[in-house]
Amino acid sequence: MKIHVLTLFPEIPRAFFENSIMAKAVERGLIDCTLINIRDFAFDRHKSCDDSTYGGGAGMLMLPEPLSAALEAAGVVPKKTDADAAPGIPRRKKRVVFPTPSGKPFSQRYAYELSREEELVFVCGRYEGIDQRIIDLYVDDEISIGDYVASSGELAAAVIIDAVYRLIPGVISSESLEEESFSDGLLEYPQYTRPEIFRGVKVPEVLLSGHHEKIRQWRLRKRVEKTLRVRPDLVEESLKNGVYREETVALIEEMKNGFN
Ligand code: ADE
Repeated sequence: MKIHVLTLFPEIPRAFFENSIMAKAVERGLIDCTLINIRDFAFDRHKSCDDSTYGGGAGMLMLPEPLSAALEAAGVVPKKTDADAAPGIPRRKKRVVFPTPSGKPFSQRYAYELSREEELVFVCGRYEGIDQRIIDLYVDDEISIGDYVASSGELAAAVIIDAVYRLIPGVISSESLEEESFSDGLLEYPQYTRPEIFRGVKVPEVLLSGHHEKIRQWRLRKRVEKTLRVRPDLVEESLKNGVYREETVALIEEMKNGFN
């Protein structure tokens, strides 16, 4: 997968791209990341990239011209003149993501969907946001990482990229992905390493037993317990969508009855 990040502050995503797992995935040719400094495409001698908004209101907005020039440098063409608008011609290969608090909620499912793309282009907003015409002309996905406002689009893009690239086959083991939180509508079970007793607290006996089936059952029970306690909304949604196996549904019913 090829990832482009358009930003006014390349040092933020650069620090993230240089982290060891990501750097290894780049080294192994699984992903390729490029940073594009939007300021390089400013067209006046002050290198301006923002201006006040039409109609009044607080704050500054990112100007459309440097953004469109930066997008086009990343090989993105406007949607309306794109060849993909013509029937019979495959969808364009680059998917343009704009992280914004007013976007669709990000999720593990969304991360899986993006991980299947050949090329992702992230537009990082600053100030009060970007001119709507950039969104209308170029952006495929407006994505929110949560119901709060961060001051940096770069951090939101980094969160999305981090959740996506690790799902690309070969980046990390598929075993690690199978039992982690959200993979099947359940949060992760608790884990322990040495020492066996830490500050008087002992590792649960079953984990020392070597009894694989009992360990599996204990872990599933812990996952169900925790998900019911902290994410009852996830349990209800997964039940509705038929995500759970029979054994999990039985455990949920048993625990719900126990809670009442
Ligand atoms: N930029 C600032 N806040 C954000 C959020 N919650 N999600 C995505 N992008 C953002």
